[in-house]
Amino acid sequence: MSKYITTPIYYVNGEAHIGHAYTTFIADTIARYERLKGERTYFLTGTDEHGQKIEESAQKNNKPTQEFANEISATFKSLWDEFDIGYDKFIRTTDEDHKIGVQKAFETMYAKGDIYKDFYEGHYCVSCETFFPETQLIDGEFCPDCGRTTNVVKEESYFFRLSKYEDKLLAYYEDHPDFVLPRSRINEVKNFVKGGLRDLSVTRTSFTWGVKMPKSFDDDKHVMYVWLDALLNYITALGYGKDEANMDYWPASIQLVGKDILRFHAIYWPAFLMSLELPLPKHIGAHGWWTRDGEKMSKSKGNVIAPKEVADAYGAENLRYFMLREVPFGQDGDFSQRAFIDRINSELSNDLGNLLNRIIGMSGKYSEFNINSVDVLKYHKKELTKMNEVLDSLDVLMENLQTHRYLEELWKLFAIGNKAIEEHAPWVKMKENKKDEALATVALIANILARASVMLHPVMPNTTNTIADALNFEINNNSYKKFILDKNMLEPFVIKKVPPLFPRVEELLIPEAPRAEPNSLKDTPKENKQVLAEEDNLIEIGQFFETSLQVGTIVEALEVPKSKKLLKLQVDLGEENVKQIVAGIKEFYTTEDLLGTQACVVANLKPAKLMGMLSEGMLLAAKDEDGLCLVRPEKFKKPGTPIG
Ligand code: MSP
Repeated sequence: MSKYITTPIYYVNGEAHIGHAYTTFIADTIARYERLKGERTYFLTGTDEHGQKIEESAQKNNKPTQEFANEISATFKSLWDEFDIGYDKFIRTTDEDHKIGVQKAFETMYAKGDIYKDFYEGHYCVSCETFFPETQLIDGEFCPDCGRTTNVVKEESYFFRLSKYEDKLLAYYEDHPDFVLPRSRINEVKNFVKGGLRDLSVTRTSFTWGVKMPKSFDDDKHVMYVWLDALLNYITALGYGKDEANMDYWPASIQLVGKDILRFHAIYWPAFLMSLELPLPKHIGAHGWWTRDGEKMSKSKGNVIAPKEVADAYGAENLRYFMLREVPFGQDGDFSQRAFIDRINSELSNDLGNLLNRIIGMSGKYSEFNINSVDVLKYHKKELTKMNEVLDSLDVLMENLQTHRYLEELWKLFAIGNKAIEEHAPWVKMKENKKDEALATVALIANILARASVMLHPVMPNTTNTIADALNFEINNNSYKKFILDKNMLEPFVIKKVPPLFPRVEELLIPEAPRAEPNSLKDTPKENKQVLAEEDNLIEIGQFFETSLQVGTIVEALEVPKSKKLLKLQVDLGEENVKQIVAGIKEFYTTEDLLGTQACVVANLKPAKLMGMLSEGMLLAAKDEDGLCLVRPEKFKKPGTPIG
């Protein structure tokens, strides 16, 4: 059976950041893992180049759209090349073959009666390239996904009969509980479908930057909706609609996406495939969102972090390791240089790097770099048994995309190795004239490192090749079979000296994101670093105190005209510091309820505009199915009293 792995195709309206890199790293890791296991594998990535958003970005940059798309697409390609991403194809939606495939799909759906022509009147968000019904808008105007203003658009449009697939989709989710990974995410998809699917407008007449209608329609006013065009890339890349050369790779074994685009991949995409009578992908893997130092990355904040900058400073494969180790698949993650440095120093440098250095050093001293596994079983049966247990536990973790658990488990091998050195102290054995035992321990470590480097190879391909080279073997499907499946020992060999693989990092190597925070590695208390290394998703106490929480007294409360949700409040934080806060609590409080009462205020939020009004803070509130209530101090406190 073959394996087909895809990333989303990236919009070419800006260059890649570490969020994009994360999706690509996971996909590349899985593809390499499958190849290592000897599977016939095809790995696709590429760029999404049509639609109004790209057209507008090109205009802002004073470039013809195609030229602009070429330039940005090339930056993605060269970035992935820098990271040695082993894709089999880099598709661009402006490729002629892709356009032919999209037109073919459109014709097929139309012939089946799944596409019809009508009029559309709706609220369109250009940024999300999506129509929303009025009921879903925030305050009747703003996009429910990104919060930007939507425009009312009325146009003639072709529609895809999405509604027809509602029941089929629900039945499919029921029968395939692991269609979406992590499994827990299927609920939001099901709820969306159960809420009712409206037919989907799949063409546009308001702009021209898209795949043209098939000639047979003789309807040049329309271009294809960018999501129809984009999703089809997963099959046009295999030759759908043209030569079908690689269509035997379909269905995909895993399609990786960020959680923000899960709906498109778990609802629209399967419906399109059902219409085309093609099988559905085995899994859609939805990963979480990356922030930088706890904040959402955005160009306007100036805190977007370029993968190349990180790679140049800290090493490309160290970054891959960090991102895959740091976050449980599906959960949000935070990129902080301190957490990154901790992992480089403790896990890569101490646990792995030192182990290799130690056996190079010891074998140099005791046996002129000769390593022989002959006595390992005699002295280290216990360690070999444990090692094999760890190795046998890994496959299921990778197959379930649990890269953080996979690496955590793999690291147990180094713990076994380090413990064996401490317990057997080869230097003592040498003094006691027990050279066989000393050399057996050295050979045990070499065997541990050989297996670990095979299994770490998909995550750190070049680094592990260097380790394997030092240990006189090559990482490929043969060595996978030999060391991992058949559990053979290394043949006698002469170990090569290699320079330290993971030099320790003592300071931040790239400038901090532009915001106030402690700026030296030393500022992170040691015990907190430890906690971070051991448990996922916890914050340091310092991170909590970055939020300034204060008691505030509401001294004015006004309704916001035309808004169903917002109230405009003046909140006194003491010492003549009165902040204007626009809060979405109108459904739960009247202005009279609030006047003169106290609330807990997030006082150091960057000001934002809501419906054109400045909002300089936020009130803490708790919301459940019974409604919302403000979080307030139990007794009256002086305005401005800090909370914490
Ligand atoms: N072009 C569409 C995808 C079409 S696929 C048929 C798109 N492009 S995107 O460039 O905006 O995003 C591509 C991927 O990057 C998405 O999976 C998205 O989730 C991911 N990320 C973008 N920013 C991210 C973070 N900050 N963190 C993690 N992933 C993020 O959507």
